[in-house]
Amino acid sequence: MKKLIICNFKMNGSVAMINNYRNQLLNHTLLTNLQNSQLIICPPFPYLSLLQNQSNINLGAQNCSHLQEKSSTGEIDANMLQDLNCQFVIIGHNERRIKLHETSEQINEKISQALQNGLKVILCVGDIENHTENEQGINTAIDYILDQCANSLSDITDDQMQNIIIAYEPVWAIGSGMVPELSYIKKIINILKQNFPASPVCYGGSVNSNNASDILSLSDGILLGKASLDVDEMLKIIQQVENN
Ligand code: PGA
Repeated sequence: MKKLIICNFKMNGSVAMINNYRNQLLNHTLLTNLQNSQLIICPPFPYLSLLQNQSNINLGAQNCSHLQEKSSTGEIDANMLQDLNCQFVIIGHNERRIKLHETSEQINEKISQALQNGLKVILCVGDIENHTENEQGINTAIDYILDQCANSLSDITDDQMQNIIIAYEPVWAIGSGMVPELSYIKKIINILKQNFPASPVCYGGSVNSNNASDILSLSDGILLGKASLDVDEMLKIIQQVENN
């Protein structure tokens, strides 16, 4: 299976920045023939069309609405994302869980709607506190993460799990420059893979070109925030994956 390189632009970008980014990336010879990597870019909603229908770029959104009523001002539903040729959608990112108080019920509803509309889901889960210090801490983190998965995935069938990518993102590692020990990441990824054998499992949280290769050796992919905004960083990471 190709390694997933998922780029979450968060609330960054502009028309000029994204056009420039796309041109720089696509003009690079590396992008003409990706053998080992699948690149998924998730820009903010207003810029989705700037990255639409580009070969070697899979388009993803950062969220979709849990609401079904068309009278939902300001919301964007999974059907609209499909209409824009999005193939992926990030659901349950901790920044939305924490800042916007997204609940597991809402996340579960979003997942159902995304799957019904043919989208693949990138479900983010992760422990809030740093539990890396000892075995008991790891077990606390595992319980927390499995609980998040169970709540977010209720009523999702085994078959549907093939269309769900689980992104393990320790909240304390996101944007902090801190990354857990590889042995810790490995343990959690393996537990997730045992519990959800049909789903690819990725890691996110302060991944960059210095640690991407090691993390990719343990996982099916990476979810990049800050590093994804830097074309040079992206090219370094893609190069490492392609050389493997
Ligand atoms: P980061 O963000 O790579 O900047 O830590 C990752 C994420 O939030 O998905």
